[in-house]
Amino acid sequence: MTRIVYVNGEYLPEDQAKVSVFDRGFLFADGVYEVTSVLDGKLIDFDGHAKRLTRSLNELDMRAPCDSDRLLEIHRELVTRNALVDGMIYLQITRGAPNDRDFAYPAPETEPTLVLFTQSKPGLADSPMAKTGMKVISIEDQRWGRRDIKTVQLLYPSMGKMMAKAAGCDDAWMVEDGAVTEGTSNNAYIIKDGTIITRNLGTEILHGITRAAVLRFAREAQMKVEERPFTVAEAQAADEAFITSASTFVMPVVELDGKSIGTGKPGPVAARLREIYLEESRKAAI
Ligand code: PDD
Repeated sequence: MTRIVYVNGEYLPEDQAKVSVFDRGFLFADGVYEVTSVLDGKLIDFDGHAKRLTRSLNELDMRAPCDSDRLLEIHRELVTRNALVDGMIYLQITRGAPNDRDFAYPAPETEPTLVLFTQSKPGLADSPMAKTGMKVISIEDQRWGRRDIKTVQLLYPSMGKMMAKAAGCDDAWMVEDGAVTEGTSNNAYIIKDGTIITRNLGTEILHGITRAAVLRFAREAQMKVEERPFTVAEAQAADEAFITSASTFVMPVVELDGKSIGTGKPGPVAARLREIYLEESRKAAI
């Protein structure tokens, strides 16, 4: 089955879906994106992703191509047309394609580019990694200063994943001024003496939609949460560690820079949070 992709108002077979060489996303990484997971054909936390998208657009003075209700319709249409059961929907908006390359933003009436496509991942919620845990390395955080805006400037995170791969690991946690900011495409957490510790929100990290949900569920389950920076040494001495993102949900981390965390196996708190997150998100999926 050929994948059907949405481009600027049209549903097209993927080999016919095209954008201009002058697109600002292509030339300047002048674009924002969202990744929404799909379980059993339903969207997980669509509202959270739509709200963050609006915020990203506003922060960059970028025009929205349509409202959130229309975006929901397109998401659902893609799920249907691609018979998507488990996987993700990738959405990207750019400042459009003026007729030339110019650092200055194009005229405000320039139509933004809107692209959405599906990625099928059968059994997304049953990832074997949830049983084994991930190994991470630490790397310097060399990204720009507005990481709270979900832009498509992903070269450094991509380099980080390659550094992790070269070290025989699954991902990298980025470190700035001695403290962990986040993973290359996820938020980072440690657990010490029953307290869940994760970096406080600011411009240094992406405000994860999964993070917001997991912290809400943790507090509802009477777990203690501290939102503050933590160091690599503190993480290595923690009882457990994990990451969250729309595509991994809650995923345990069992090693950091070659040192086992806790028992070196996924811990009970991360496992419980994963269970609660999946259960509650499935219930609220639309
Ligand atoms: N990444 N931090 C960064 C740098 C991210 O790129 C992501 C998401 C997150 C987690 O955010 P959320 O819980 O809203 O997915 C944190 C997506 C999944 C990606 O780039 O594929």
